[in-house]
Amino acid sequence: MPALRSAAWFGATGKLGFYHRSHTKSEGFPDDLFDGRPVIGIAASWSDLAPCNAHLHQLAQSVKAGVWEAGGFPFEFPTLALGETLMRPTAMLYRNLAAMEIEELLRANPLDGVVLLTGCDKTTPAAVMGATSADLPAIVVTGGPMVNGRFRGVPVGSGTDLWRFSEDVRAGVMTPEDFVASEACVSRSNGHCTTMGTASTMACLTEALGLQLPGSAAVAAVDAARKVYGHLAGRRIVAMVGEDLRPSKILTRQAFENAVRTNVAIGGSTNAVIHLLAMAGRAGVDLTLDDFDRLGTDVPTLVNLKPTGEFLMEEFAAAGGLPAVMAEIADLLHLDAVTVTGRTLGEQLAGAPCYDRSVITSRQQPLLPPGRGTVVLHGNLCPDGAVLKLSAASEPLLSHRGRAWVFDTVEELNQAMDREDLGIDPDDVLVLRYAGPTGYPGMPEVGNLPLPRPLVRQGVRDMVRISDARMSGTSFGTVVLHVAPEAAVGGPLALVETGDWITLDVDSRTLRLDVADDVLDRRRRRWSPPPEEPGGGYVQLYRSHVLQADRGADFDFLVGRRGAPIPRQPT
Ligand code: FES
Repeated sequence: MPALRSAAWFGATGKLGFYHRSHTKSEGFPDDLFDGRPVIGIAASWSDLAPCNAHLHQLAQSVKAGVWEAGGFPFEFPTLALGETLMRPTAMLYRNLAAMEIEELLRANPLDGVVLLTGCDKTTPAAVMGATSADLPAIVVTGGPMVNGRFRGVPVGSGTDLWRFSEDVRAGVMTPEDFVASEACVSRSNGHCTTMGTASTMACLTEALGLQLPGSAAVAAVDAARKVYGHLAGRRIVAMVGEDLRPSKILTRQAFENAVRTNVAIGGSTNAVIHLLAMAGRAGVDLTLDDFDRLGTDVPTLVNLKPTGEFLMEEFAAAGGLPAVMAEIADLLHLDAVTVTGRTLGEQLAGAPCYDRSVITSRQQPLLPPGRGTVVLHGNLCPDGAVLKLSAASEPLLSHRGRAWVFDTVEELNQAMDREDLGIDPDDVLVLRYAGPTGYPGMPEVGNLPLPRPLVRQGVRDMVRISDARMSGTSFGTVVLHVAPEAAVGGPLALVETGDWITLDVDSRTLRLDVADDVLDRRRRRWSPPPEEPGGGYVQLYRSHVLQADRGADFDFLVGRRGAPIPRQPT
């Protein structure tokens, strides 16, 4: 057993030890618990304001039971709960704040290890980022997805079917009353989104990284097995403290490469690109945007879940969950990567069964052939890169040239899309800018731009869209996202004018603005940054320090590992 940092608090003598122990005993803990056993934090990002995480306080009780059983001393504490559905302007504005809070709480308290309870989109990467920088033994337990939605006999998935219904209402093929009636049918229990959106993706990728117990990512929030995984994680973290098994030993370059490849196999969210880049930055792993394209070329998409396919997370769990997927691509993974179990990934995946090939397809008959994950584009419109999720895009649009329609705000765009007289053609290209990390601020999920109402009525369901924003992992369409540098810092996206021609060519991985360099130079000289809204406070800190999308949109001063040295305490 390595020296425990908690001993600096609970093992102290004199008035300092008295001070630490006495107040803690006020919670009803007997003397013998302060005997030098591992002290385990349970960081629970639960809140009534974060519906996807509302059950995590209950799940924490299972974790506690496991910690007690293994001889540890558990302390549950709340962490910033970022609810995707209620927070404005976007939960992403606060991901780095949550990561900073978790890192500092781990360092400031008498903790030897931590179990991270997460769920909704940003809570998982935030917790991993914070714990990676603090580098205490850590294990993730995600809260699990909701049970499947079902509306009038038809399965409906979070997000994906909302976007579809919303376009159906605009097209006049669904009534507003039916739209409202479907609300409760989509979200039926505790848990995160039921599709392979960002929450499911990040749950799977923490398992792929080796930070979560094998088989746990897909299990529904209300399944008893979710509590069992919580209990087992509580047991395991105590052993991990004894083994000094910290994130720095798990989050290697090999682990990140496994996660990047797994993201293609599961048809995961484009948001995974941003979050994995940020997590790698904390771990000191030099993962780049281009790695996502390079590592994805030989990986097929196997998981038949919305938005890419047809099923939902309940079927995914029943089919064998992530181990079944990773076993199928085992030859493409680094099997000697170490995981929170103390075993290698290869040992864990050996013999992982698949129970339903319609949900998790085989390598021989994949849902999509290799290389249909997220591709990375370059060109004069995105010198530092942009991403496009091929599995969510329309094949005929992957090589496309069209006239740009440019919008500077979401509001302006939404109004225009409802007009009958704009004359936008299905071959045109919609551009939204000033929605990047600095510009909005917070890089909201607005990249899946709505289509012009007259075209929707004609049955048009996809057009090429380009922005410096993100899009929900539950969305679909031929949508170029994360354009870097963003318009607000003077990226070329700021220079596009309505009527310019834009060429997208996925085969050559290029996105080009077909305007002469001297014209662009003139426009650049005329350009000035948008006026900053008066503010101060956290938003000012965010704007001043957020990195561009190709660096994971972390804060520049938070990149890297700082460990958890024991802070000084005046006596
Ligand atoms: Fe929370 Fe989708 S809104 S996971």
